[in-house]
Amino acid sequence: TGCFTYDPGFGATASCKSAITYIDGGAGVLLYRGYPIEQLAAHSSFLEVAYLLMHGELPSPGEFTRFENRITHHTMMHEAFKSFLGGFRHDAHPMAMLVGMLGSMASFYHNTLDLDDPEQRRLAAVRLIAKVPTIAAACYRHSIGWPLRYPRNNIEYVERFLHMMFEVPSEPLVLKPVAARALDLLFILHADHEQNASTSTVRLVGSTGANPYACVAAGVAALWGPAHGGANEAVLKMLAEIGDAKNVQSAVDKAKDRESGFRLMGFGHRVYKNFDPRAKIIREMTHQVLAELGVNDPLLEVALRLEEAALKDEYFVQRKLYPNVDFYSGIIYKALGIPTEMFTVMFAIARTAGWVAHWLEQQEDPEARIGRPRQVYTGYAARDYAAIDKR
Ligand code: CMC
Repeated sequence: TGCFTYDPGFGATASCKSAITYIDGGAGVLLYRGYPIEQLAAHSSFLEVAYLLMHGELPSPGEFTRFENRITHHTMMHEAFKSFLGGFRHDAHPMAMLVGMLGSMASFYHNTLDLDDPEQRRLAAVRLIAKVPTIAAACYRHSIGWPLRYPRNNIEYVERFLHMMFEVPSEPLVLKPVAARALDLLFILHADHEQNASTSTVRLVGSTGANPYACVAAGVAALWGPAHGGANEAVLKMLAEIGDAKNVQSAVDKAKDRESGFRLMGFGHRVYKNFDPRAKIIREMTHQVLAELGVNDPLLEVALRLEEAALKDEYFVQRKLYPNVDFYSGIIYKALGIPTEMFTVMFAIARTAGWVAHWLEQQEDPEARIGRPRQVYTGYAARDYAAIDKR
C-alpha cells in the first residue's frame, strides 16, 4: 500500500483536529465543548447548545439574547424559494426537497459571501440555523398541499417550527408544553456527534473552499442514508412491520442471519460499544412524553420487547450492538404528529448546528487542507488500447 494505510470506512483515521465534541465509545460518554450531554439535556435549550457548539462557550444572558434575536431575524425564506419549491413533485421525499432547497441557498447568498471574512462566515452559519426549520416545514406543507406559513418571530425556535408545520389559518395551534420540550430535547441530543458521515462530508466539501450552503446540502445528502440519519425513519417502518410483540423473536433471528441482508435498524454504532448515552436519555423520556401527550402507541411495546430480546442474544452481545439514538426517537416524533418521512429532516434541523460549527472550525484551522484520501488500486496494469473492430 505504499506510504499510506488502507482503512475502509476510516475506522482508524483522524481526519482533523477538533475541539467541539468528545466521545468515549467504551464508557458511553458524549461531551459538547466539555459539557456532558446528560447535563445539557436536563438544563439547556437547543438554541443555547447551537451557540455553545459554534462559539465554544455557553452564552451569558446578553450574548444569548443577541444570538436569539439574530437567529430570529433570519428565519424568513426568500420569496423566490416558493417557486423553486413548487417545482418539486408533491410526493417527493422531503429529504430530496431539503437537499435541493439548501443547495439553492448557495445561489441566493453567493455574491454576498466573502469566505475570508469571519463575520460573513458566522452570518452564513446563523442563516442556516435560522432558515432550516422554515425550509423543512415548507417541504412538509408542499408535500401535503397546504399553504406555507411564515415564521412567527414572537415565539421560540422549536415552537416556531411546530407552528410552521401544523398551524392552519383559522385555528390557532394549541401546543402542549411537553411537545416543544420533547422536540427541543431531541434536537439537543442530535446537534453534534463529531466526525460522523454527514459532518465529515460537510468538512470534505468545505475543504475545497466551496460555498457553505452547498457544504450543508452535501451533509444532508449524507445524512439521508439508512445507515446514518435515515435510520430513524427505517426504525419506525421496521417496528410497524413487526407489528406485535409476538413477532419480535423472528425479527431478531432474521437480523442474525447475514444472508437475509436485514439489520435491526436503530441498533449498533461505529463508536459506541457499550451504550449510546443519547439512547438512554430518549428511552427514559419516551414513556413520560407519551403519557403527557395522552398517546398510547403499541409500537413502544414492540420496541421495548425488541430491545430486550436483542440484548439477551449472543449475536448482539458479542458484537456489542446496543440501541442507538434513533431507536426510540421515532416513537416520540410520531407522538408529536410528525410523519415518518419527516424524521430524518428533524435530524437534519438539529445536526445543522453541528455542521456549521465544524465548518466554522475548519475555516479557521491553519492546518486544514483539501481532503483527498488515497486508494488501494485493484484494477489492470497498463495495457494497450485495441481498436473497436479488434475487440
Ligand atoms: N443488526 C444486525 N447486525 C448488525 C447491526 C444491526 N443493526 N449492526 C451491525 N451488525 C453486525 C454486522 O453485520 C457485523 O457483523 P460481522 O462482524 O459478523 O460481519 C458487525 O455487527 C459489525 O458491523 P459493521 O457494519 O462492521 O459496523 P459499522 O461500525 O461499520 O456500522 C452501523 C455501524 C451503525 C452503520 C451499523 O451498526 C448499522 O448498520 N446499524 C443499523 C443502522 C442504524 O441504526 N444507523 C444509525 C446509527 S446512529 C445515528 C447516526 O449517528 O447516524
